[in-house]
Amino acid sequence: MTTESPSGKTIVWFNNQFLPLAEANVNILTHALNYGTGVFEGIRGYYEEKEQDLFLVRPMEHFERWKRNAGIIRIEIPPSAKELCELTAELCRLNGFRSHVYVRPLAYKSSARIGVAPDENDAYALVVVPFGDYFDSRHGLTAGVVSWRRIEDTAIPGRAKICGAYVNSVLATDEARHNGYDEAIFLTETGHVAEGATCNLFMVRNGKLFTPPGTDNILEGITRASVMELARNEMKLEVVERSIGRSELYVSDEVFFTGTAVEVAPIISIDHRPIGMGVVGPVTEKLKSLYVEATHGRMPAYRRWLWPVYRSVAAGKAA
Ligand SMILES: Cc1ncc(COP(=O)(O)O)c(C=O)c1O
Repeated sequence: MTTESPSGKTIVWFNNQFLPLAEANVNILTHALNYGTGVFEGIRGYYEEKEQDLFLVRPMEHFERWKRNAGIIRIEIPPSAKELCELTAELCRLNGFRSHVYVRPLAYKSSARIGVAPDENDAYALVVVPFGDYFDSRHGLTAGVVSWRRIEDTAIPGRAKICGAYVNSVLATDEARHNGYDEAIFLTETGHVAEGATCNLFMVRNGKLFTPPGTDNILEGITRASVMELARNEMKLEVVERSIGRSELYVSDEVFFTGTAVEVAPIISIDHRPIGMGVVGPVTEKLKSLYVEATHGRMPAYRRWLWPVYRSVAAGKAA
């Protein structure tokens, strides 16, 4: 996927200023590069042609999570979540993006020296790139349980998007792809289903929706929260957070992934066993379409999730 803006020169926020992506570089001895001491986020923006606007999806929640989770490794991100939303919208406008985008905030330990002991030198950057589908999941994905286990909260907290922790996801993805699957499924050390390498997991059984709890080493996804809200409010489904066994997946009616990048992605087989009828199931299909409608600004009740990039300026000028 390209990182280019319409002008051909992508502008990013780095070292407290706007500058070209090609100039946003770090020293080879940077603490985060050597020891993984960064915390990142991933936010989508959907361009809605009809409204001529770009909607950032739940940026307040993403920035609040980012700031809170950076605190786990004692990285400070000074601006408020609202200021970060405004800065991101400004960055989108500067780049002239009128397409779907992905925002990558990254906060990190920035000292350039040898030595694991962290200090107080923190920095952060914001990058926005054009972004399309992460998976082509129209006909469903194949998934496989990998031999790597999901990192324990007692080792590296998986609830935060800590850079170094993503080696766990890289190993899982690598194994899954080499085994011919689209995506990995992690188990916890106690053998419960945790999540995908970059996404949360839901299971449909007997008309109820189940998803692993925050204590099963998952990243507590914002898309997961959105889908739970849509399922309860729009489909009157019972949603249960509880541990899930591996073989429960095999006998379930439907399974799907959720995540900012993967959106709502149906799974049609796991470990070479068809899930349900081996095609995209009706609950997943409905939730996927509700999620698209809500995040593209087409459901008034969920406009509160969205931060319009272009209208926010037009409204400010009119005031
Ligand atoms: C390991 C992991 N789980 C779940 C998710 C989904 O989280 P969200 O819906 O907040 O994007 C992600 C997103 O990147 C992730 O990396």
